Amino acid sequence: QLELSKHEEQNNFKISIQYMREAILKTVKEIKGSFAAVIIDPVTQTGWALKHGSSLYAGIGKGFILISSDLSSILKYSNKLIPLEAQEFIEFNHQNYSIFKSSDKTKKLGEGKTKLISAGTQIERKPVRSKLRYKDTQHSPKYDYFMEQEIHAQTDTVQSILLKLFGESSNLNNYFKSNNNLTEKTDKFLNELRELDPEVQLENLTDLSKDEDFKTKLPVFLAALPADSSAEPGSSDNLITTLNSTESALLSRLFRQTTNLQVKYLIKFLDSFVNFKESRNFNNKIKKFSKIIREAGENGRHIYLAACGTSYHAAMSACLFFNEIAWTELIPILPGEFRGRYSNTVKNNDVVIAISQSGETKDLVDILNDIEKTGKEINRIAIVNNLNSTIAQEKSDLTIPLHCGPEIAVPATKSFINQITILYVLALEVARQNLKQSTQDFNPSARVKKEKEIQIRLDNLKYIPELIDETIKTTQLPIEDAARDIFLAPSIQILATKINSVAKEGSLKIREVVLNHTEGFEGAEFKHGPNTILGKNTIYGVQFIERFINNFAGKITELIKNNKNKIEPQNIANLINALTSNIFGQKNRINLSDEEKELFNKIISNYDPLNNSSFPYPLIYITGPEERDTELTVSQINTHKIRGANTIIIAEENSNLRSAAETPPANAPHYKSHYIALPRTGDTLLTIFSSTVVLQMLALEMSVNKMKYLDQIGIIDHGVHPDVPKNVSKSITVD
Ligand code: F6R
Repeated sequence: QLELSKHEEQNNFKISIQYMREAILKTVKEIKGSFAAVIIDPVTQTGWALKHGSSLYAGIGKGFILISSDLSSILKYSNKLIPLEAQEFIEFNHQNYSIFKSSDKTKKLGEGKTKLISAGTQIERKPVRSKLRYKDTQHSPKYDYFMEQEIHAQTDTVQSILLKLFGESSNLNNYFKSNNNLTEKTDKFLNELRELDPEVQLENLTDLSKDEDFKTKLPVFLAALPADSSAEPGSSDNLITTLNSTESALLSRLFRQTTNLQVKYLIKFLDSFVNFKESRNFNNKIKKFSKIIREAGENGRHIYLAACGTSYHAAMSACLFFNEIAWTELIPILPGEFRGRYSNTVKNNDVVIAISQSGETKDLVDILNDIEKTGKEINRIAIVNNLNSTIAQEKSDLTIPLHCGPEIAVPATKSFINQITILYVLALEVARQNLKQSTQDFNPSARVKKEKEIQIRLDNLKYIPELIDETIKTTQLPIEDAARDIFLAPSIQILATKINSVAKEGSLKIREVVLNHTEGFEGAEFKHGPNTILGKNTIYGVQFIERFINNFAGKITELIKNNKNKIEPQNIANLINALTSNIFGQKNRINLSDEEKELFNKIISNYDPLNNSSFPYPLIYITGPEERDTELTVSQINTHKIRGANTIIIAEENSNLRSAAETPPANAPHYKSHYIALPRTGDTLLTIFSSTVVLQMLALEMSVNKMKYLDQIGIIDHGVHPDVPKNVSKSITVD
C-alpha cells in the first residue's frame, strides 16, 4: 500500500539487477558442460543471455535487441551484431546492453605474457555488421525448396570466389592501388554511409559526387572501366556486386533508387572499390595460408584438416587437390579421431585447419580447445562461412571466408562446393609457391611442365561455374529417372573410384534427406565384405512389403476361388495363419484339418514369397574419366551385377562403362541401369565438382518423391523433407 518513491524504485531496480548478475556468476560455476541460455525478468524488463560453449548471437536494431542460437534468424531483423565470446553474458533491454565475463579468463598479450580477466568484469564492445545478408536467407518463388535454391546458387557462389581471387589484378584495381588518398577517403565515406538513415543516404551520395576529388578522379575511373560496363549504367546488373557483402547490397539498392547519372557512376565507382578491397583481403589471406603450409612442409610438420560431416568430406577432397596439384600431404581427420590418434603427438609448428560452415560445431570447438590447452605453438587456420562464429572469432589465427552466403537448408550444399573451390584455390597457390621457391626439385624441363600444369588447373578453376551450370541443366532428366527407381530403396551403396570423398558426401546427402541407409565407399573396398548384401538380402523396404503382400493376397484369392463351395470363414482364417507361420519358419504350428491340409499343400508348392519379393540392390558408381579408373569401374559393375545389383553410373560419357551398365546379366529379369552423363572435362578433379552436384540433385529428387509418397499413403511424422529432415539442425550441433 505504501507507494515507492522514484528513488526507492530505482534502488530496487539496481538491487534486482545486481542480484541477478551475482546469481548468474554462481550458477555458471555449478553448471557442467556446454550451454547457451536466456533469462528474462518481466519485472525489471531486463534479459540476460549466457554463452558457454554453444552458439549464441545478439543482434541490435532500432528499439530492439534479439538473441538467438542461429545467426540467420537474427539477420532477418538486423545485420548489426553485438559480438559475444565464450564465457560471457550480455545484459540487455530493448535498446541498451552491457557485456560481462561469466568465468575467469586468461588473455594472451603476446611475447608469452598473459592477463587474468576475472568473472564479473564488464567488457566494452561495439556492434559490428554481419557479412552475411538477409536477402540471401529469403526463399525465392522460383524454387520449391531451399535445398534446390542452394544447389542452383552454386554457380554464383563459386563465381563470387573467383571474383575475389582475380578481381584484384584488373586494370581498375591498379587504379585504386595507385590512388591512396582517394581510397582512404572512399573507405571512410562508405563506413559512414552504412550508419546513416536510408532517407539521407542518397543525399550524401549526391554531395560526394560534387566533391572536387571525386569530380576529377571519376573520369579517370570511367576510362579504366572494362568496355562493356562503361556504358550508361541502367540497372543494378551493371554493378560488380559481390555476394556476401553488405556494402554491395546497400550500393545496389541505392543504385536502383537514383536517376542521377553522376550518382550512378559514383556508385559504380564505390562498388568497384568494395570489390577491390575484398579481393585484396582475400588474396592476402591466401598468400598467408600458402606461406604457413609451405613452412610446415619444409620443416616436416603435420598439417591436419579437422572437420565434421560434409566439411570433413571437403577435407578429404582437399587431400586429392593438394596431392595432385601441390604435391603436399594433408591429414583429414574427424575431431573424435583426432583425440584418439594425435592428441599426444601434436608438435610445435604443426598446422590445424578447421573447416566449418557454421563455425560453431561443438565437436570441432572442443578439439581446438584441447589443442590450445597443450600450450604448443600450433598454427590455427579456419575456413568458415560464418565470420562472426566462435571458430572464426576465437579459435583461429587466420580465417578464410567461404563467401557462399547464408545456407538455410539443413543439408549442406553450396557451403561444400565453396569449401572445395577454396581448397582447390589454396592448393594452386601452394603449388605456385612450391615451384617458385624450390630451386632444386625441378630441372628446367620439369619446371616448364609443372608451370603448364598449373596454368591448365587455373583455367579449369575459371571453368567451374560453367561446369556446375551445365551439370544442372543436362543431368536433370536422367536424375529424375534414377530417383524414381530408387527413392524407396531401404539401402544403397555408392562406390567411387578415387573420388571417395564424393561418395561419402553423396551418401550423407541421401541419408540425411531421404532417411534410408546409404553408404559411400572406395569402390574396390566393396568386395572385401560389404558385397554380401547383394542378391536375396536381409534389408527389406516398402517395395518389398508391397510385393510380399500382393503375393500373399494372390495366394489367398487363389485359395478362395479354387474352393468356392466348401470353404468357410474359419477355414480361411486357419489357412491364413498356417501360411503366415510357414513363411516365417514355424511350420506345423497351426493344426489344420485333413481337408485344410490338402488345400494348404496345394497352395504352398512352389511358393517362395521372400524370394519373389526381392529387388536387385542399387549400386551407384562414380568415377573420373581416367582410363585406369573407368576400367576398374567396369570390372566392378560386371562383378556385382551378376550377384544381384542394379547399376547407376555417374561419370563422363564412356562406351565401356555404358556397355557394362546396359548389358543385363543372364537370368536377371528385374535388372535395371541408369547412366547419368557428366559434362566432358577429361579431368578427375573437375568431376569432383560435377558428380557432387549430381548427387545433391539426386538426393533432393529422392527426398521429394519419398516425402510425397509417404504423405499420400497417410504416414504422419515421417520426417522426410529436403530442407528440414528430422533429428538434425543447422548451426547447433551439440554433444
Ligand atoms: C550435412 C551437414 C552436416 C554438417 C556438419 C558440420 O549436410 O550439414 O554434416 O556438415 O554438422 O557442420 P559445420 O560445417 O557447420 O561445422
